[in-house]
Amino acid sequence: MDEEEPQAAASPRKPSRAKSEGAGPDAVRAMRAAATDAPPPPNVEGVREALLHATEVKPGDVGAASEGDKPKRRKGKGGGNGGDDDGNGRPPDATAEILLRQFEQRDVGLFWFPPDSSKPKVHVCGPIAAIARTRDDHGENWGVLLTWKDNDGRQHEWPMPRAMLAGGGDGVREYLLSRGLYVAPDQVARQALMKWLSIVAPIDSARCVGQVGWHQGPAGLVFVLPDKVYGPADGERMILQSSGSVVHAFNEVGSVEDWRREVGSLCAGNTRLILAVAAAFAASLLHLAGDESGGINFQGASRIGKSTTLRVAGSVWGGGPQGYTRNWRATANGLESVAAAHSDALLALDELGQMDPREAGEIAYMLANGSGKARAGRDGGARHALYWRAMIVSTGETSLAELAQEGGRRAKAGQEVRIVDVPADAGGGLGLFEELHGSESADAFARRIKDAAGRCYGAPIRAYLAGLTERLARDKDGFSDWLAKRRTDFVARHVPEGATGQVLSVAGRFALIASGGELASALGVTGWDAGIADWAVALCFKEWLDRRGTVGAWEDETGLGQVRVFIEAHGSSRFENWEANHRDLAGEMKGEKIINRAGFKRANDAGAWEYFITPEIFKGEICKGLDARQVARVLVERGFLVPGGGGKFSRSLTVPGYGKLRLYHLRAEIMGDAGDGSDDGGKG
Ligand SMILES: Nc1ncnc2c1ncn2[C@@H]1O[C@H](COP(=O)(O)OP(=O)(O)OP(=O)(O)O)[C@@H](O)[C@H]1O
Ligand SMILES: [Mg+2]
Repeated sequence: MDEEEPQAAASPRKPSRAKSEGAGPDAVRAMRAAATDAPPPPNVEGVREALLHATEVKPGDVGAASEGDKPKRRKGKGGGNGGDDDGNGRPPDATAEILLRQFEQRDVGLFWFPPDSSKPKVHVCGPIAAIARTRDDHGENWGVLLTWKDNDGRQHEWPMPRAMLAGGGDGVREYLLSRGLYVAPDQVARQALMKWLSIVAPIDSARCVGQVGWHQGPAGLVFVLPDKVYGPADGERMILQSSGSVVHAFNEVGSVEDWRREVGSLCAGNTRLILAVAAAFAASLLHLAGDESGGINFQGASRIGKSTTLRVAGSVWGGGPQGYTRNWRATANGLESVAAAHSDALLALDELGQMDPREAGEIAYMLANGSGKARAGRDGGARHALYWRAMIVSTGETSLAELAQEGGRRAKAGQEVRIVDVPADAGGGLGLFEELHGSESADAFARRIKDAAGRCYGAPIRAYLAGLTERLARDKDGFSDWLAKRRTDFVARHVPEGATGQVLSVAGRFALIASGGELASALGVTGWDAGIADWAVALCFKEWLDRRGTVGAWEDETGLGQVRVFIEAHGSSRFENWEANHRDLAGEMKGEKIINRAGFKRANDAGAWEYFITPEIFKGEICKGLDARQVARVLVERGFLVPGGGGKFSRSLTVPGYGKLRLYHLRAEIMGDAGDGSDDGGKG
C-alpha cells in the first residue's frame, strides 16, 4: 500500500493537485468527496458502497476532488470558497476549507497532514465518511451524519451532535470506538479527529428527529421508524437520532402475509385480541385525530392470556429477543425515555400490579400527560422536555386507579378515562379468548398464538404505515373527516343518552381504536372482513360501560363504591355498638373493646345498622385517593348521609360513654336494602 507523503501536504492543497485520471472507482470518489467537502454522491447507498469497496487511494488523488467533481463544489451552493454561506451551516469562510485540505481519506482511513511539512502524517481513524449536515426541528443539535464500517462489515450510521465536540470529545470517541471504528489513541490523532469532525461540512443536509412517529417533512407528514421513513420522500432526509438509552424493538421478521396467516387469522372471533391489535394500529392515528396519550388496561385474573394478548398486539409493531412488550415495573424508572421512544406507537406494558403503588399515580398521570421534565442530554439528545403520544395497552390484575389509591394517591378521573380498564376475561370459560380455532384448549391456543407472534412481527405496521401515508398524501382532509365521522357514529350507536364527558371521552378512544382496526383491514393487513374490528371494539366498550354501572361521573360512583366496600369489610369488626358502650360509676369503660375503631353502629327502627364514622377514618381511609367532600356531597344527594348543621357533612352527636363526637352518619340504605344492612344479622 502506497502511503507516500503527498508533495504539498504542508501547505493547503490546491485543487490542481488532484490527479483526476487516477481517481479510482467512483466509490472512492464518493467517500473522498464526502470527507473533503466535495459534493457527495446522490444517495447514501453510494457512500455505504464506498466504504465497502474503498480501494487504495494514490496520494495525488486525495485532498481535493477530481476535476470532474471540482467545479460543482467550488462554485456551487455553499461551496465555502470565499465564504458564500448558504445559510445552512456551511463553513462561511475559507479557513475551514483550507483546514479540510489537511485531511485525506485512504483505504485504511483518515489521515491528517500537519501544516509543518517536517512532521509526519497522522493516521487519525479508520475509514469514515460524513454524508450530511444535521440539525433538529428547533434549529438545534447541529451535527454531522457519519457512516463507517466495523470489522464485521456492518455499516454504522450516526448523526453526531457537534455539541459533543465541546470539551475533550471523549463521548464521540467512545461512541465511535464502541461501534467498531478504529480511532488512533495518541493525542495528536485525537485532536486531528476533533478538528476534522468540527470542520467537515457535507453539502447534503438531513433533519434529525428525536423520536419515532409523525414529523412534518418538507413535502408533508412523514412517519419515522428507526430504519425507515414513511411518507413523501422528496426533500430532506430525516434521521432518527436516538438518545441511545433505549433499545428499540421496531424489528421486522416475516412478511405481512406470514403475520396475517399465523397471527391475524387466530385473532378472528376473539374480541380482546382484536381490540388489542386494533389499538396497536390506532397508535399512529392519535396524532391525526388530535387525541391524547392513553389506552386500555386488560384487567383480570392470572393465567387467562393477558400477557399473550400484549404480545400479539406488540407483534404488529415489532419484537426481538426481548420482545416488544415492556414491564410496568421496569419502566417506572426510565419511563420518560421509554414513552418517548414509543411516540405515535404502541406502548405495551405488562404486569401493572408489579409497579410500586406509590409510583402508580404519578406515572399514570405523566404517561397520559404526554411529556416529561425538561433536561439536557449528555449525548446531545433532546434538550427540550421529552414528549410523546402513545397508545398504551397494559395488563394487570388491578386497575391503575386502584393501584394509585393503594399508594395513597388520589385517583384522578382523568387517569381512569385515559387508561380504560377492560375486563380481560371474556366470560366464556376460556379466559381472555372466545374462539380457539381448532386448538384443544384455551391453554393450547394461548401457547399457539404466543408462539406465532414470536415468529412473525413488525411487518404489519410497516404495510399499514405505507398505506396510511399514501392515503394521507392523496387526501389528508378527507382522512381526518373519515376519522371524525367514525367517532360521531360510534358515539351515536353505542353511548347511552345523558352520558357524561368521561364516558364520551372513553367512547372516543374506542372509536379511534376501531378505526385503526378497520383501516388495517381495509389495507389488507389483518385479513379480517370489514366491520370485524368495529364489532369487537364495540363489544368491549359495552362491557366497560356495563362494569362501570353508570353513565354518571366516575368519582361519584367510585366514592359510593368505596364507602360500601369499607362497610362490608369492616362493619362487624371495626364499629362499636352504640348502645353497648358506657362508663360505669367508677368511670371505667364497659362493653366491647374495638381495636382500630372506625366508628359506631346503631340499629334503626327497622332493625338495620346505621353507621357513624369518625372524620379521620372517613377522610383518611374510606375516601383515600378521592375528594372526601365530594364523596360526602354525593352521599347526601343520594340520601345516604345525614348532614350536620351549618353546611357540615359530619354531625355532632353524643355517644354513650364518649360524649360529644363529630361523626359521619350513614343511613342503613347505603348498603342497599334498608332492612338488610346488617352484617351480623341485625341488632347485636
Ligand atoms: N385463557 C387461558 N386459559 C387457560 N390457560 C391459559 C389461558 N391463557 C393463558 N393460559 C396459560 O397461561 C400461560 C400464561 O399466559 P399469559 O402470560 O398470557 O397469562 P396472564 O394472564 O398474563 O397471566 P399472569 O397474570 O400470571 O401474568 C400460557 O402460556 C398458557 O399456558
Ligand atoms: Mg401476564
